[in-house]
Formats: sequence, structure tokens, C-alpha cells
Amino acid sequence: MWGSLLGLSSALALVTISPAIAAPSDTNFNTKCTTLGKLAKVDNGVVNLIEAIGAGTNLSLPSQDPSCSPSSIVVPVDLCRISLNVTTSKRSGFRMEAWLPSNWTGRLLTTGNGGMGGCIGYGDMSYGTSLGFAAVGSNNGHDGDTGASFYNNPDTLADFVYRARHLSTVAGKLITTFFYGRKYTKSYYLGCSTGGRQGFKAAQDYPEDFDGIVAGAPALAFNNLTSWSGHFYNLTAPPGSPTFLPPELWVTVHLDVLDQCDALDGYVDGIIEDPRICNYDPSGLICANGATTNCLTPAQAGTVRGALSPLRTDNGDLVYPRLQPGAEVIAAFVLFNGQTFSYTADWFRFAIYNDPTWDPKTIDSDDYEAAARKNPFNAETWKGDLSAVKNRGAKIIHWHGGEDFIITSENSPRYYEHVKSTMGLSNAQLDTFYRYFLVSGTGHCGGGNGAHAIGQGLGEVNSNSPKENVLMALVDWVEKGRAPETLLGTKWVNDQKEQGVDFQRAHCKYPKRNQYVQGNPKLPSSWKCVAV
Ligand SMILES: *[C@@H]1O[C@H](CO)[C@@H](O)[C@H](O)[C@H]1NC(C)=O
Ligand SMILES: *[C@@H]1O[C@H](CO)[C@@H](O)[C@H](O)[C@H]1NC(C)=O
Ligand SMILES: *[C@@H]1O[C@H](CO)[C@@H](O)[C@H](O)[C@H]1NC(C)=O
Ligand SMILES: *[C@@H]1O[C@H](CO)[C@@H](O)[C@H](O)[C@H]1NC(C)=O
Ligand SMILES: *[C@@H]1O[C@H](CO)[C@@H](O)[C@H](O)[C@H]1NC(C)=O
Repeated sequence: MWGSLLGLSSALALVTISPAIAAPSDTNFNTKCTTLGKLAKVDNGVVNLIEAIGAGTNLSLPSQDPSCSPSSIVVPVDLCRISLNVTTSKRSGFRMEAWLPSNWTGRLLTTGNGGMGGCIGYGDMSYGTSLGFAAVGSNNGHDGDTGASFYNNPDTLADFVYRARHLSTVAGKLITTFFYGRKYTKSYYLGCSTGGRQGFKAAQDYPEDFDGIVAGAPALAFNNLTSWSGHFYNLTAPPGSPTFLPPELWVTVHLDVLDQCDALDGYVDGIIEDPRICNYDPSGLICANGATTNCLTPAQAGTVRGALSPLRTDNGDLVYPRLQPGAEVIAAFVLFNGQTFSYTADWFRFAIYNDPTWDPKTIDSDDYEAAARKNPFNAETWKGDLSAVKNRGAKIIHWHGGEDFIITSENSPRYYEHVKSTMGLSNAQLDTFYRYFLVSGTGHCGGGNGAHAIGQGLGEVNSNSPKENVLMALVDWVEKGRAPETLLGTKWVNDQKEQGVDFQRAHCKYPKRNQYVQGNPKLPSSWKCVAV
């Protein structure tokens, strides 16, 4: 079914060059780029578009579904853009792009997707090319951030779970080698959320695809995650219900969480360095003596306890760990908003039950178990044996924001420990190929109160130095054997890079956590990684 992807024989290819795009100044490069379209023959694939794009072009992306962002992107360097449609079965296929910079470092970068996407990772592709990578991305088998196209179509579901990411990497390797006339030196992966899960899926099932993987906030234990995301509705009930907390009351809860846990790391700055050691108890907030404001009814306190507790089946089996304390303020608008969770609705309707009438309000223990049992195409992504990655010398940097309000960071050490026990390795042995970092004060894949810019993508880059850039740290590890001990994160003044650095923190390698020692707390040197 899947033959050799790219031959050199001539084939009919649809080539369009948009006049709105500034061409690179190197005319040889432009010619080479457009010739690629005439020479590239992609089995099971058809070329949509080929264009040479000059650095600084603001590229509009009309082929993106409206549910995807961005709808335009600035192309950072001169590059050749090729877009292809690739068929994966009689009823499925994906759209992919390769961005081939004129000033190529020899490295290849595959980018991941997010949510139920459906959206090419143009941001990460742009970021990758700015660092000299040839970058590849796909729509993961369907357009738009919805699971509706899985309905009656397990092939589209297979593309989402593993196939589009794998085959677009294979295609990207061939296209890159053909275009530059030499093989790439190393193949890398960058992704967060669903993209983090895709990175681990590659590590588990396609270890040959990458020499290095950055997996952020991975959506591991994916079926169980969708159960967990969907269970908050029952806990809060809709706005106005006795169990519901309006967002301002979650701010009160958050301040109480900080009262109990912010000082555990030795410094009170609004950031809980390691939520693992925070065992929050909301009972102090229960309204006393007829008070009605800034306090919780017993029913609301029950909601808070439930929201910050692990989810279990009726039999007591763990489905998913608790939301880590500290993320309440934004979680109020995402998980605790008294509405059903759209990804949960999509996953159960179109991937688990194939029944668009399933009502996400009714989710319960039987559904958690049904999803874990069905586990389509092993979307769970929970294999603990990464020996193929280890044996070929590939490296994995796994990171997770400590204020993640969509995927709890407490699932990440759970996976690390699962790998550790499955492989029977010590932390020091895991360190040779797999390292996990909790990035404190950081939301879902970026942003937050903490030193969240670790070079994980556009807008999160303080510099390209491996010391403070997770992607270049990975390159340094893979190519020079220098493994990162910490990930140095940056918080800019008002989150504006132009306004300069507010503070930096060196995020610790698991299982250690950060502890303030002495001196200016804005300097990483005033902190130390200690055992929990
Ligand atoms: C590629 O697929 C898109 C839909 O994703 C379609 O609009 C376009 O016409 C296809 N291109 C070719 C060359 O078949
Ligand atoms: C790029 O163009 C779009 C409109 O097509 C506009 O909304 C956006 O602001 C532009 N981006 C930049 C950086 O100029
Ligand atoms: C090409 O990249 C190298 C480093 O990767 C850099 O030193 C050089 O300035 C770049 N050249 C151009 C023309 O961008
Ligand atoms: C939560 O689940 C319980 C048990 O199934 C049910 O009685 C209750 O009505 C549900 N609450 C909401 C808001 O759906
Ligand atoms: C997922 O949940 C089921 C219960 O529904 C549980 O048996 C299983 O161990 C969970 N899997 C993971 C990876 O946590």
C-alpha cells in the first residue's frame, strides 16, 4: 500500500506560485525550488503547491480550517515550501508541508499537532526554519480541531493516532534528501500536548524516526485523559448550581492554595515550584458565622476537593491523577466552567462509541472503562519500554508546565516512573537517554506566572543558546553528548521580551525539585535542585 514515497522520475504535479509572495533573492534557489515540484513524484501523493518564499513574507494560510490558528504567519528565512496531499487508504489521507530553508543546517524537524487537530503546526515549522532546520508538518489526517471526521472512519482515526505523523516524517526525510542532494544529518521532533503524545508515540512504536524528541505536556494515557477532562462537569454542575464556583471564587481558592503551599520551596513568589509536595485542604475556606462572600459552602468545598483529587473508577482503579494545585485561576475557565469538554465529547462520540448522540453530561465510570478497553489504535500511548530509543542512542526531553490547566503535570512523573519500572532502570540510567523537567509556574505548553520561556516555540524564546532553549539543548545532547541538567526558563517584564528579563529559573531534572537557598530570588543561582 505504501510504496517508496519519492522517486526522481518526472510526474505531473500541480504547481502554483502566488504572486503575492516575495521571492528569495537567490534566483538559483528559486529555480531549484520550483524544479522540485516538476521532479518530485510522490507515491500515494499529489503536490498541491510549491513556492519559494522570501524571509519576512507574511504568509496567509487559507487552507487552514477556521478552527485552526494561526491564519497567517511570518516566514523567518528564505525557504522553499512544498505542500502535498498523501493518501493513506481508500477513505483517508493527510495534507503535509515541508519548509526547506536556503541556509540549511542539515537538520530535520518534524512538528506535532494539538487537541483533536487537524491543524498544521505552522508556528513550530516557522520556529524550526528560523533555527535552520528543514521543517515538516501535517494536518494529522483531517482538517480542523474536531474529532468529527473519525465518525465511521477508523482510517482517519488511525492517521490521527499515529499514521500521519509517521508517514509525514518518512516523506519529509525523502523530500529533504532529494531537495538538498544529501541526507539530513539528524532528525528531530518538537511537539506539545497532543504533539507531546505524538512524540512519545514515535518513541514507543517508531523509534527509527527520530534522533531526538522534545515532548511537552504530553497527552499520555489519552483515553483516560479524555475521561478525566470530561468528569469535571459532573463535579461542578452548570453555573448557578450549589456545587459550582464562579471564577472569582476560584481566585480565592488559589490564594488559599498559595497560603498553604507557596512557601514550601523556601520563597513566597506566587509560584509553587513543585506541586507534588502540596497537599491542599480547602476546609479553612468554609463560610463561618453566616458569612457568604469569599468563602465556600460545604458543597463547593466538596467540588474543590474533588477537582484536586485523582479520578478513579467505581472499583477504585486510578483513571488519571489529580489536577496539580496552583492552576485554579485559569482552570476555572477551562475545566471548571460548568460546561462539557469538547474533546471529551468528540473522542467518545466518534472514536470510542461511534455514536454522535452520546451525551457528554452522562460520563461515568462505565465510560472510563469502555474508553480504556477500546483504546483505538493504542491511542493510550502508555508503553513503558523505550529500549529501542535507548539502544539507538536517541534522546528524549520531556517537560511539563507546573500550572498546566488542561493536562495535569502529575501525569508526567507517573509516565516516567512507568518507564523506569518497565525497563528496570535507575534514574541515572534513564538520564542517559530520557530526562523529565517540571517547568514551574507554566500553563499549558507556555505562558504563566513562572519562568515559562524555555525555547519551546514562537514567543517563548529568550535565546537560542542550548542553556535556555530546549530544542537547541536537545541538539546539543544528540550531537555533542552534552545532556541538560536543568532547563533555564525566563520570565520577561510584563511578559514582553522587549521590556527585558524579570527573572530566570533553572528548572530541575526530575525527580529533584527547586528550593530557594539565599540571595536575589530572581537569579537562578539563588535556587538549588534538591531531592523531594
Ligand atoms: C488536497 O486536499 C485538499 C483538501 O484537504 C483539497 O482541497 C485539494 O484540492 C487537494 N489537492 C489536490 C492537488 O488534490
Ligand atoms: C499578516 O497578515 C494578516 C492579514 O492577512 C494580518 O492580520 C497580520 O497582522 C499580519 N501579520 C503581521 C506580523 O504583519
Ligand atoms: C546561515 O546559518 C549560519 C548558522 O547556522 C549563520 O552563521 C549564517 O549567518 C547564516 N547565513 C545566512 C545567509 O542566513
Ligand atoms: C453527576 O452524577 C451523578 C451520578 O450519576 C448524578 O446523579 C448527577 O445528576 C450528576 N450531576 C450532573 C450535574 O450531571
Ligand atoms: C486507564 O483507566 C483504566 C480504568 O478505566 C485503568 O484500569 C487503567 O490502568 C488506566 N490506564 C492508565 C495508563 O492509567
